[in-house]
Amino acid sequence: MVKRCITILGATGSIGLSTLDVIRRHPDRFSVHALAANTRADELALLCREFQPRVAVMADPESAGRLAELLADCPDIRILSGEQGLCTVAAAPEADTVMAAIVGAAGLRPTLAAVGQGKRVLLANKEALVMSGRLFMDAVAESGAELLPIDSEHNAIFQCMPADKIRNPVAAGITRILLTASGGPFREHTAECLRTVTPAEACAHPNWSMGQKISVDSATLMNKGLELIEACWLFNTTPASIEVHVHPESIIHSMVEYADGSVLAQLGSPDMRTPIANGLAWPERVSAGVAPLDLFAIGRFHFERPDLIRFPCLRLAAEAFDAGGTAPAVLNAANEVAVAAFLNGDLCFADIPVIIERTLAITSVEPADSFEIIFAKDAEARERAREQIGLLSV
Ligand SMILES: NC(=O)c1ccc[n+]([C@@H]2O[C@H](COP(=O)([O-])OP(=O)(O)OC[C@H]3O[C@@H](n4cnc5c(N)ncnc54)[C@H](OP(=O)(O)O)[C@@H]3O)[C@@H](O)[C@H]2O)c1
Repeated sequence: MVKRCITILGATGSIGLSTLDVIRRHPDRFSVHALAANTRADELALLCREFQPRVAVMADPESAGRLAELLADCPDIRILSGEQGLCTVAAAPEADTVMAAIVGAAGLRPTLAAVGQGKRVLLANKEALVMSGRLFMDAVAESGAELLPIDSEHNAIFQCMPADKIRNPVAAGITRILLTASGGPFREHTAECLRTVTPAEACAHPNWSMGQKISVDSATLMNKGLELIEACWLFNTTPASIEVHVHPESIIHSMVEYADGSVLAQLGSPDMRTPIANGLAWPERVSAGVAPLDLFAIGRFHFERPDLIRFPCLRLAAEAFDAGGTAPAVLNAANEVAVAAFLNGDLCFADIPVIIERTLAITSVEPADSFEIIFAKDAEARERAREQIGLLSV
């Protein structure tokens, strides 16, 4: 048994807290080197008191000041701030494993810092991989980092594939990946009803308890679109080999079809502690505190095709992947801006895909030759998406 030392980027979030819950159950197997968050200093201070990391980071400098006050009686905990602080802890040699669980594009640089040091990187922050695709995977290959998927679907696919052929599905005899989707809280809403749904309704996911941004992404099906792109990069495949199956029970987390007709699936209660524990302990298994699956209580599984007319985000994501270059970074940036505007009450839910589609249409696709180009396109797309939101409200 290897004792692992973990840094958690996004420690105060839904994934961060689930990760700490698994760690809490196994003090003999896991220790914490650093905890990082953005603004929630009070929450991070409590976690620091319990887990006693060597370093704590607040991306927001003012919040770092507040954290320092809150932990004034803990001189052994070093406090850092800003993106530089995040990258410093992500790359620190003391930790062998980094949970990348910052939400959105803000996670790309710190996640890359961990990748660059060849660590075990537990990837929850799908936006980082969506934005930078090939560059990200090249960085993984170059450093020898061990990239393990934490998204429940990708972790399921990973578990259904031979470990030595994760990047070579054809050689493994894999013919198709069946990516499951809950369908979100508005699966049965008419297009008309989608115009009036509120942020609170969008964040009330029927099966999963998650942060606000991914909850809205699940409701628009952009989460599935981001996951489609993520799967293409992780498993070295294309959207044509991946079929999204809406499975409202969220018990089958995804499936892999083989040439002989076998379909392997990974099942479990909808609880992120399962894929997190899988990543933390891989290739071993540890208990995750998850309720055992009661198939008698569930009774039936259902499957539907996604409706790309009411939920165009999945189509937009597949098109962005096919367009290649900087298109997925533009898709991601426009989505982040549109979701933030919706959560802020400045955009109606049904206009989220409108903003993304318009931003994609007016932002040129460049070859994604460097991370600088990706960051520049991300900034350009954000500006354009904000302009489009302004035009809609005129
Ligand atoms: N939740 C799930 O079940 C789930 C499942 C699969 C994948 N994921 C992915 O995991 C990631 C995290 O999701 P989540 O649901 O855990 O989100 P969340 O609950 O909103 O938590 C986000 C975390 O990121 C931190 N953060 C936000 N902006 C930051 C910045 N600029 N710099 C540094 N830290 C920042 C937050 O800190 P503060 O608390 O201080 O704001 C918080 O700790 C996302 O990429 C999501 O797509 C989530």
